Amino acid sequence: MNVYDSELVSTMMHESGYKKTDDLNTADAIFLNTCSIREKAEETVYNRLDNFQHLKRKNPSLLIGVLGCMAQNLKDELLEHKPYVDIILGPDSYRNIPKIINDRSNKIDHFVDTKLSKFEIYDDLVPSRNKSVNSWVSIMRGCDKFCTFCIVPFTRGRERSRPIKSIINEVKDGVNNGFVEFTLLGQNVNSYNTPDGKFPVLLDKVAQIDGLKRLRFMSPHPQDVDDHMLEVMAKHHNICNQVHLPLQAGSDRILKRMNRTYTSSEFLALVDKIKNYMPDCSITTDIIVGFPGETEEEFCETLSIAKKVRFNFAYMFKYSSRPGTKASQYDDQIREDVKQKRLERLIDLQLKNTLLQNRSYIYKTIRVLVEKESKKSNSQWSGRTQGGIWVVFDKNNEKIGELVDIKIEDARGVTLFGSRVQREYKYEVA
Ligand code: 5AD
Ligand code: SF4
Repeated sequence: MNVYDSELVSTMMHESGYKKTDDLNTADAIFLNTCSIREKAEETVYNRLDNFQHLKRKNPSLLIGVLGCMAQNLKDELLEHKPYVDIILGPDSYRNIPKIINDRSNKIDHFVDTKLSKFEIYDDLVPSRNKSVNSWVSIMRGCDKFCTFCIVPFTRGRERSRPIKSIINEVKDGVNNGFVEFTLLGQNVNSYNTPDGKFPVLLDKVAQIDGLKRLRFMSPHPQDVDDHMLEVMAKHHNICNQVHLPLQAGSDRILKRMNRTYTSSEFLALVDKIKNYMPDCSITTDIIVGFPGETEEEFCETLSIAKKVRFNFAYMFKYSSRPGTKASQYDDQIREDVKQKRLERLIDLQLKNTLLQNRSYIYKTIRVLVEKESKKSNSQWSGRTQGGIWVVFDKNNEKIGELVDIKIEDARGVTLFGSRVQREYKYEVA
């Protein structure tokens, strides 16, 4: 979402007569688009800002802006401790950028706007996308779920969805500009809801756009995964058979305390249901360890669900207390060393699961979208399967953005290795 929002900011800067540069030393303005989801993300921003202070000493007219969730969440702290920051704009306030740029000569000391909107306010802006294969498309913003650990409902505000028509137009425009894969984005993407239809209706319509080779979406909430959504996914061969299904925890008591609205057995039943619709569907997840009050037994319940589901991939986090959230007020916070140990045990299990899943593809032929040159060798390509697994293979005469069939020969770490085969597939597998 932040990449997408940065692309919107880029458009506004471009319209105000600025050009993008990769060289911080010569920049006239620097914007940091920030994240507040965990403490570590915030620390990273503070460190980057300290580096920018040196640049400002050399070039006093340099404009420094902090955008996004941290601006929303920590504006007072930023104003007090980072006085060299000129602009602080929350996620719904980027529209101010052209005005600030134009008023720059008026020597306003600080410009702060962190009002959140009830409506989608960037609907008519086309993001300035970097040339690549995948294009992000924001379809809804905000979150009404209020998981007790999460800062997002506070920094991003209430749920609001863009009209179907404007999303379709944006995707068509992207296809005309050479993009072949689209990822629909939202803090709770499948809570998408407009008078013209909910998420499955939108998904069905977008999948029918000519020239769209792959369609993904991120991140759904298990509560809003329904039969209609799965039917639409199974019906269209260009909708990737991948569902990111954030588990968060395996213990029912912890799930309740997190306000996640499902039990572990409901989660497992949902995984079965998804596999009934799409037997090849890859299931990925997010898991938090060390939520306040989590006992050793309750952590083992998380391990046990991870073992049962064998997620293809997982993003795993230590619980990070976010001031202002309900869970930050619980008085049974877990010690850092205990959290760290649990995280290591979970990662250990998940790496084995990923490798087991990936090894099951060896000798199979999988359709891969060619995305970029491999980091290790310029004679190889990297591309992804529908399930999002990276595959490395020798170059022949393929082009970036082409779908090719690769016979998998090896699986190491989280990557697959194979070679090109000439074979016509009616449908993609894996
Ligand atoms: N601490 C750790 N992880 C968190 N996430 C959200 N809030 C926190 C927090 N306070 C994780 C969740 C979510 C993902 C985007 O980030 O797993 O799904
Ligand atoms: Fe945060 Fe996602 Fe829960 Fe919303 S549903 S509160 S974004 S973890």
